[in-house]
Amino acid sequence: MPDLKSIYLDNAATSYPKPETVYSAVDNYYRNLGAPAGRSAYSQATRVQHLINQSRLRVANFFNAEFPDRIIFTFNGTDSLNLAIHGLLEKGDHAITTMAEHNSVLRPLRNLETCQKITVTRIPCDTSGRIDPADIKKAIIPGKTKLIAVTHASNVTGTIQPIQEIIEIAHQNNVIVLVDAAQSAGHLPIDVQELGIDLLATAGHKGLLGPLGTGLLYIRPGLEEQIKSIRQGGTGSQSENDLQPEILPDKYESGNLNAGGIIGLGEGIAFLQEKGLDQLREKEIGLTKMFINGLEPLPGLNIFGPENPRDRLGVISLTLEGMDPQDLAAILDDSYGICSRAGFHCAPEIHQQIGTSDSGGTLRLSIGHFTLEEEIQKTIDAFNEICTG
Ligand SMILES: Cc1ncc(COP(=O)(O)O)c(C=O)c1O
Repeated sequence: MPDLKSIYLDNAATSYPKPETVYSAVDNYYRNLGAPAGRSAYSQATRVQHLINQSRLRVANFFNAEFPDRIIFTFNGTDSLNLAIHGLLEKGDHAITTMAEHNSVLRPLRNLETCQKITVTRIPCDTSGRIDPADIKKAIIPGKTKLIAVTHASNVTGTIQPIQEIIEIAHQNNVIVLVDAAQSAGHLPIDVQELGIDLLATAGHKGLLGPLGTGLLYIRPGLEEQIKSIRQGGTGSQSENDLQPEILPDKYESGNLNAGGIIGLGEGIAFLQEKGLDQLREKEIGLTKMFINGLEPLPGLNIFGPENPRDRLGVISLTLEGMDPQDLAAILDDSYGICSRAGFHCAPEIHQQIGTSDSGGTLRLSIGHFTLEEEIQKTIDAFNEICTG
């Protein structure tokens, strides 16, 4: 049962609570099955493999992937992004990314750049966190740019990026696009074939409602020929030799999977499908609008990101003049039982663009699928007291 005393507004970090079906699937795995997947043939192990196959199929259907084996299970969003970036880029390549990215994109790219393997161009966003596709077009170096790594939606301002236009520009120039959907997956519809996404990396434990320790990477058919495995090891397949299998998903899934987590993730996705992503999105838009409208008139508050709730997720960053975001988060927690996050949110560069680099970043409040209207109202009331008290 969720802790009814607290108001959980840290869903951009990880979602809470999860659907009951997720809890019971994980409980059933650990209590009644317990076996690893893909290694043995006794009945519990076969059942676990079946449930993992089912989760993979659900994920593939959810994102409209061509086949379930295009979905690689990882341990979080960071893991998926590292696989895509380190697996794809080679000495001499040029990559483009943006200043709206999370460190799980920025740091692997910086690492490769520091080792003098690749060069990177970082595209600024505007003060609402939005990237202009024309800037990306200008940064492409024909014959040298291999990758554009772009977030679908900012984890600081909630800004939804124009990924369709970016993908079109990239493909006109034979550039591969990696979309970081850690924040958007489970909140916005994503059809990888319709959008033409080459690589889709996401966490499983945020909007997709799976447990922590889950993530996934979609790889467009054929691209696996260009992406190296960055970890090698036991896969339960082709065990008679010491060469990493080339078949998917085994090529990228070495070592025991987080079976309980993946089974739970499958239930998270089933929940989203049952509720309908469009309805959930409309609810999120309504709550975001209510939240921003309630906070905007309060003295001293600055709210970041697009004004129109349809242009953003329910991820709301703000600052209160004269107060450190960490102190504000502590007051919200101690006096009102509101769970928020303060600081830079692992996305250092966007703070330069929105002007919060020198003042400790922002306070972030993020709405989830289970957030209630009354919780938003109580949070607005709390801010009213803090700002006017
Ligand atoms: C935009 C974005 N990308 C990537 C990540 C990394 O995801 P994970 O925490 O699952 O590694 C996050 C996490 O907050 C994120 O917000």
